[in-house]
Amino acid sequence: MTRVVIAKVWEIPPGDRKIVVPFRGRAGIGVFNVNGELYALRNICPHKRGPLCTGELTGRIDAAAPPSARQAELTVEGDGEVLRCPWHQWPFEIATGRCLVDPDVRVKTYPVHVDGNDIVVNLDD
Ligand code: FES
Repeated sequence: MTRVVIAKVWEIPPGDRKIVVPFRGRAGIGVFNVNGELYALRNICPHKRGPLCTGELTGRIDAAAPPSARQAELTVEGDGEVLRCPWHQWPFEIATGRCLVDPDVRVKTYPVHVDGNDIVVNLDD
């Protein structure tokens, strides 16, 4: 296990992120602050290897009726808890890495914690 200091705690406030490439030639890591909780994801989309962590932050979109219905109204829940890949728009739950359109697809996640003033990610070797 390799310990990587990503940032100082004040560098990633709630709703923000930081992307780092700790080792040349290896995948970058995106660290997200979602409502005060920190999460770390590999910056490679499991679909076609897009730069996932640069994508738009959004929420889970729900509809009370099928989208084709006249009165269909879309609602967004958990705003800021979902990351949408910039290449083909697949949505991923930041807390788990789970893809919301295909539960068998996940992006790699890493343990992240605060040590003093440092945000630290543990990478498996
Ligand atoms: S590369 Fe991410 S959705 Fe296709």
